[in-house]
Formats: sequence, structure tokens, C-alpha cells
Amino acid sequence: MKQEIVEEIKGIVGKDGYSTDIADLYVYGFDASIHHKTPDIVVRPTTTEQVSAIVTLANRTLTPIVPRGAGTAMCGHAVPLKGGIVLDLTAMNKITEMRVEDLYCVAEPGVIYDQLNGELSKRGFWFPTTPGSAEACTIGGMVATNASGMRAIKYGATRDYVLGLEVVLPTGEIIHTGTRTLKNSSGYQLDRLMVGSEGTLGVITSVTLRFAVKPEASAMTIAAFNSLVDAGRCVSNIIAKPLLPSAIELMDSVTIKAVNKCMNVGLPDCEAICMIEVDGHPAAVEDEMKIVEEIARKSGAFSTEASADKKKINEWTQARKAILPSLSRYGENYVSVALADDMSVPISKIPEAVGAFQRIAEENGVIVGTYGHAADGNLHTKMLVEPHSEESWKAGERAVGQIYDKVLELGGTVTGEHGVAITKAPYMQKERADSLDAMKAIKKALDPNGIMNPGKIFDWEGSIISHLRYPAFCDDRCGGCQKS
Ligand code: MLT
Ligand code: ZN
Repeated sequence: MKQEIVEEIKGIVGKDGYSTDIADLYVYGFDASIHHKTPDIVVRPTTTEQVSAIVTLANRTLTPIVPRGAGTAMCGHAVPLKGGIVLDLTAMNKITEMRVEDLYCVAEPGVIYDQLNGELSKRGFWFPTTPGSAEACTIGGMVATNASGMRAIKYGATRDYVLGLEVVLPTGEIIHTGTRTLKNSSGYQLDRLMVGSEGTLGVITSVTLRFAVKPEASAMTIAAFNSLVDAGRCVSNIIAKPLLPSAIELMDSVTIKAVNKCMNVGLPDCEAICMIEVDGHPAAVEDEMKIVEEIARKSGAFSTEASADKKKINEWTQARKAILPSLSRYGENYVSVALADDMSVPISKIPEAVGAFQRIAEENGVIVGTYGHAADGNLHTKMLVEPHSEESWKAGERAVGQIYDKVLELGGTVTGEHGVAITKAPYMQKERADSLDAMKAIKKALDPNGIMNPGKIFDWEGSIISHLRYPAFCDDRCGGCQKS
């Protein structure tokens, strides 16, 4: 990067607001995905005006710019594929308004999900989307990916809570979308366009969010099955009752074993479990839990264990949240990687989907851990690969393609909550083939110079097994990313 650009950035954010230190640049080349690429500079703005000045400069000098929250994204959203500026928004971390009487609050993008919920719960409310990375992920990142988690079946995803946004467009102009009212039919819903735009259409600098009343009580049961397909069937049997649980988390035998190895929770050692949660008024919770357990048994569960004890529910929830790190300790030589990561299928298709995933894993000789927010059809399939074996990565990639073909055949989507970025780009391009041109036209209109988070989503070409963070398997397909 030219020294004049660095000097200009220093003039905008001051000497402590940026870094070109080699160690910082290396670290900011990662997110939670399999990819890595080093930026030229990391900038930490503290105000919208600073963001606007930096983006204006990037646009004038044709410098790529990638907004970043906590870096918990799993598909390469925050990896600066083309170098340039990483814009770290974590210093913009204030809740600027809390209006419980109007059912909304306003937060800067760097506010952490759990921090916001801490403030809301003191007042009897919550923002219930419950992402797996709740302790770390930021509100800006959640909006940029339309993040959600285990409670989306009852409470929806981030999109359902965004009332309005302040956005710095790729030209540096500051715009305000949406409103502070709960209803709004005033013109194009540009906030809807920005939600899930993954840093390609602008930088989110303020978020107006509605929230929900926190339920009085909850209860959870662990239903254990001898068949993953039966566990999948249990999910749609509960929904079709009709009964709306606040969560159903499905775990297969690979994920159960991994968690039991790492944590002392003693999950039933079987083919599959469903962790089923209901919430609401205490009397309703008790009634609904009885019905849930009856349906689970009729669907093939050989045991159920219910609890309304907060400590127990928290212990089970923590065990569920530990799947991702635990999978990397499943076997000596394997790491768990986010490939074919978070597809969604219509709820009734879960049995067919999980059966197919097991078959595809076997046929390709890969180990796949299947789990997820089954209540709304959102599944996770983490592959265990030998990180330094090319053959292992190739087998993983083959399985990914087959898994996504099956998901699309079942009427599903390649990503329910993590987004596209790099790791899902080729499959999303297949899924959205007839609307890619419309997306590209919107991108061109808002970002004529293509500076915002370039090279991702519809602009990605080729294999996803490139720009890998694992140096021993870095070859020409990475463009020498690890060597640069
Ligand atoms: C979760 O469900 O815990 C998160 O989406 C992360 C993941 O495991 O893929
Ligand atoms: Zn998830």
C-alpha cells in the first residue's frame, strides 16, 4: 500500500487508530473459516464520520475494504481476499439508545450480542436469535450475515428484528434506512437489502433493533434415539402436532462422542439425540413438555430426560455449544472444518437429508459430524479433514458438492444462517442462478468501483479449497496466499 494512503488514514483515525505491524496484519487475515489472506492495513474507526472518510478514500484510490466485527464468520467474510483495508468496527461498541417503552434500542456495530442481551434482560426483554458465538459476535456482523441460531423456529433471525440502519455506502455517503417505528411501508426496504449483504454493499455503523419479551420459564428434554433418521422424524412430528418449541437441537453419534470426550456432561451414547426446549408461561411449559416427550417416544426415542432446572438446561446448552471445538478432538489427526456448513431444508425433509449426508460421507471416506437447529430445518455438517493431506481436502470437497446437490434437490438452501462469502460461493451461485444478474446489477449501482469486500459471493470463481489457512497445503491455486 502506498505510503500516502497510510498517511491519509493516520490523519483520519490518528496514530493509534490503525496498524501496519506485520503481526497485526497476519492475525487480521483470519476469521473462523478455513481461509486466510493478509491485509495491507488494519483501521479501527470510532465514529461514523471516520468510517465515511476512510471509505471515501478507499473509493478514490480503488483500495479494497473489508468491514469486520469479531471475526466469528465461518465462510471467509472477513478475510481480505484482495488485500487492502480491514476495517475493525469493534471500537464502535456503545448501546446509544434503550427505549423499552417503544420496544427498540440502537446499537453501534461492535456491540457484542451477549452484552446487548445483558442490558435487555435487566429490563425483562431479550434479542432471542441466539447465535452459537453469542459471547463474542457483534451486532454489525449479525446484521451483515443475517445470523441466527437455535431459537429461530420460534423467534426468527436477525432480519426479523432490524427496524433501521445507518450505512456508509461504498462512495462514502452516509444513509439512514428503515425507521424507529415497529411498522413501516415507506419506500424500498433498503435495510432488508443490507441485512445479509456481507459487507459488499456498505459499512453498517448503527443498528436500530426491536426486541422481544423474555419468557418466564423454560424446560428442556434430551430424547435419545437408535437412529438418526428417527430423530429427524421426531422434529417434524412435534411441529405438525401443532406445537412450537423454542428449540430442537439434533446431534448425531459423531458429535455426541466428540462432546462426551471433551466435557463431563454424559450425553446418552447413542445414534442421535434431540435436545428439545419449550418456553413461555410455567403452566404451559409443563403441559407442552409432557406432549413433547410423548411425541418423542412415539417417534422412536428409547429414553427422555426432562428438566426445568436452569442450571441443568444451561449445562446441556453449553454441551451443545461445545460441538464445534470438540469435533477437532474427535480423532488425533483431524480438524473440524466449516465445509457444507449450515444448509437448511424444509423441516419434513430432515430424515431424508441426514440419511443422505451419512451415505455421502461413507461413499467419500470422510467423517462428517451432523447436528443443528433442526426445529427450523437448519443443519450443520462439519467435516473432519487431515489438514495437511491434499487427498483428504479433495474428498471433503467432493462430499460438499454432493451434499449441496441433495439439499437443493430437497428444496433447501445452501446456507441458513452463516452466509456465503467464499466457502459457499459456488453452491450459492448454483442455487441462485436466475437471480445472480440482478444481484450483480445492485452491487454495480451501489459500488461502481467494486471496493467493498471484493471477490466473494457471485464474484468468487473456482474451488473453495484455496486461500487455505493450513500452510502445508498451499499451492498455486491459492495464488501463493500463504507465501505472500
Ligand atoms: C452453532 O450452531 O453453534 C454455530 O452455528 C456454529 C456451528 O457449529 O456451525
Ligand atoms: Zn448454528
